Amino acid sequence: MGQFAGTIEIDVERCIKCGKCVQVCPSEIMVRDPQTREIHLQQVEHCIGCGHCVDVCPTDSVIHSSFPPETVHAIDYAQMPTPEQVMLLLKSRRSNRTITSRPVPGEWLEQIVEAARCAPTASNSRQVGFTLITDPEQLRQIGEYTVEVFDGLRRVFDNRVAKALCGAWLPGLYRYIPTFRRLRRAQSAGKDPILRRATALLVIHTPKSNRFGCEDANLAYQNASLMAQSLGVSQVYMGFIISAIKQDRKGRLVQLLGVDGKPQAIMALGIPAFRYPKYVDR
Ligand SMILES: Cc1cc2nc3c(=O)[nH]c(=O)nc-3n(C[C@H](O)[C@H](O)[C@H](O)COP(=O)(O)O)c2cc1C
Repeated sequence: MGQFAGTIEIDVERCIKCGKCVQVCPSEIMVRDPQTREIHLQQVEHCIGCGHCVDVCPTDSVIHSSFPPETVHAIDYAQMPTPEQVMLLLKSRRSNRTITSRPVPGEWLEQIVEAARCAPTASNSRQVGFTLITDPEQLRQIGEYTVEVFDGLRRVFDNRVAKALCGAWLPGLYRYIPTFRRLRRAQSAGKDPILRRATALLVIHTPKSNRFGCEDANLAYQNASLMAQSLGVSQVYMGFIISAIKQDRKGRLVQLLGVDGKPQAIMALGIPAFRYPKYVDR
């Protein structure tokens, strides 16, 4: 991550010297003079741009170039969902695979991506990209090619000689061979065993250099999945595609997804045929 090149100032006329910015800054940029209690800034270039200093200031005295006034919003805590409402959302969230051909409205897709963008990232690097794919032909090719990748593996490993040589040290792969066969059968029967007929895919990707790319992307995924649930939109984690990407030496699957960097989490989205009336305890 590059160094912060913007500016931060304290408006000394407004500052009430409460020191809250000092308490919350993770980079210790704000320091308080023990005598005068005034806030001073040090090593501003280490700012990670998290905005805590701006959010916490009761008098809008932190002037941060990354957060002009129109980007700062007061929180009305009375509007927060109750713990019971949050728990209901968490418990009722499901991977609903009954996806219909009705497209998800664009504004709902935007809300889902916006929810994903709110997720935290390591050191606030915010190096997470979001790519929506809604082209039916592209979606079809992604599903088909994923099955092809697994078919390729099956052809190499699903025989007696390979099993005798590799079975002991590739137990994970051998456990999945029946699944690979099932996926091929379903695909040949005209089903869509990978994308579940999703009308949109949300690919969450990070630069290869992002050491916390997987964590950052999957936190974003979870935010997006909860927003999808509250909108009544189906979401299903595309583990098969992520797994196929790892096996796809040619890199064709990443090409088909058309993203820069490394796909870390993929969400299939669509309008479900119905909502579930119940949830089981887990
Ligand atoms: C990492 C991961 C990979 C997954 N991959 C797939 C997948 O490829 N296809 C699928 O239909 N569901 C996939 N799922 C969904 C799980 O099967 C599902 O979350 C689990 O059965 C629990 O059901 P629920 O999400 O409805 O609560 C995946 C989930 C996770 C967390």
